[in-house]
Amino acid sequence: MSKSFIGVIGLGVMGSSLSLNIAEKGFPLSVFNRAIPGEAYILKNFMMNLDEGMQVEGFSDFKNFIDSLERPRKILIMIKAGEAIDYVIEELLPLLSENDILIDGGNSHYLDTNRRTTYLNKKGISFVGCGVSGGEEGARKGPSIMPGCSKKAYANIAPILEAIAAKDTRGKSCCTHISEAGSGHFVKMVHNGIEYAEMQLLAEAYTLLKVTKTNAAIAKIFKAWHKTDLSSYLLEITIAILQKEKDGIYVLDTILDKAGNKGTGSWSTKASFDLGTVNTMMSSAVFARYISAFKSKRHELSISVAPNVNQAEAIDISVLEKAYRFARLINHHQGFELMQQASKAYHWDLNLSEIARIWTNGCIIRSEFMEKSITVFKKYESYLEDENSLNLLKSAEAAIKQSISDSLSSRIAFDTFWSAYNYWVSMTTKNLPANLIQAQRDYFGAHTYQKINAPENQFFHTKWY
Ligand code: 6PG
Repeated sequence: MSKSFIGVIGLGVMGSSLSLNIAEKGFPLSVFNRAIPGEAYILKNFMMNLDEGMQVEGFSDFKNFIDSLERPRKILIMIKAGEAIDYVIEELLPLLSENDILIDGGNSHYLDTNRRTTYLNKKGISFVGCGVSGGEEGARKGPSIMPGCSKKAYANIAPILEAIAAKDTRGKSCCTHISEAGSGHFVKMVHNGIEYAEMQLLAEAYTLLKVTKTNAAIAKIFKAWHKTDLSSYLLEITIAILQKEKDGIYVLDTILDKAGNKGTGSWSTKASFDLGTVNTMMSSAVFARYISAFKSKRHELSISVAPNVNQAEAIDISVLEKAYRFARLINHHQGFELMQQASKAYHWDLNLSEIARIWTNGCIIRSEFMEKSITVFKKYESYLEDENSLNLLKSAEAAIKQSISDSLSSRIAFDTFWSAYNYWVSMTTKNLPANLIQAQRDYFGAHTYQKINAPENQFFHTKWY
């Protein structure tokens, strides 16, 4: 019996979609799913629904599954991130041989991936922390893939990952070797952080427009934006969502306004704190989701507070469009800046242009803007070094101010737009009030301060009292 090229553990939504994608590309595949009560049907159903010609063997026993794989064994783990990954690793370890490769394709925390890499490398096993974006459809038809591992391990898995990934406009695979260990999961985490803020910006634009417009009218406005450089997958699905009706009622209007999350947005924010980078867009988007969760308290308080003031008639759509363009640029800037800082701190030598390229298709934040970002990062380390980006921000400053003012008139929470504007204002302000902060620190804690016109390495203390 010939051996399979790769094995997949876990036939949940993402695992089964990736497995079908792999099998469709002609790779002999082994799949594993536990036969525990209530789950036995999963493997059975999967095996029954394979297309003709797909070379797939199904297992619910680890030993037989492992024996079915060619060496070095390549095993893609597609189970819930967290402790479950450690348990599976421990179960697999006695069955593995030196040079075998374990690939974690879930949304694991990059520090867990660093830890697992060190642990497994000591045992002669390679570990790949592999970011995969694109949801169910992407996994089936071509996701964006962000593998972090040694170059040697990547050489072994590149043929399969590059074959199953989406293709960019030039036909190149949307998969690239990110760097060592947790780098792939870090980059995927930042992808999700950008995703959070992109979604929140659309939600804030929608809520501002909703004061006076129907879902159909908002969809029409977004459709017009989608025909411009603002075109993106998230805008496209938002247009579809706005138009979806069931039994004559908009589905969107029936959905409870409590947003869920699985943690990657807050991880990005925490990483920014740890690395000393500014990430106000992602954090405001994360907090907007948290605030939404206080539904009953919000409802209770809303009763005694004045309702939204309807002054939005005068909203100029072209102004909001410019404000949205401005805020998206700041969002991407903060996300790429976070990767830039991580690259320096962890010596990952990340290629930001290449990361932008693999995010042009397959993933959730694919967009026209991402396409342009490839060129920006070929030349510069930051959007703020690029003349075109700077000009866009300068020319749209009046628009974002106006949109914020519109949100105030309508009493609309508009935090992520505000964050974009505030960041820009701070970054373009020569003198910030940090002199006062330094004085306060020195007053109560003798923390010292630097002086204008004194050498940077000189620190002063004043006897304040
Ligand atoms: C993707 C998505 C996917 C998922 C995230 C976000 O790139 O395919 O980002 O990974 O949607 O986990 O989930 P939450 O919104 O639940 O945090």
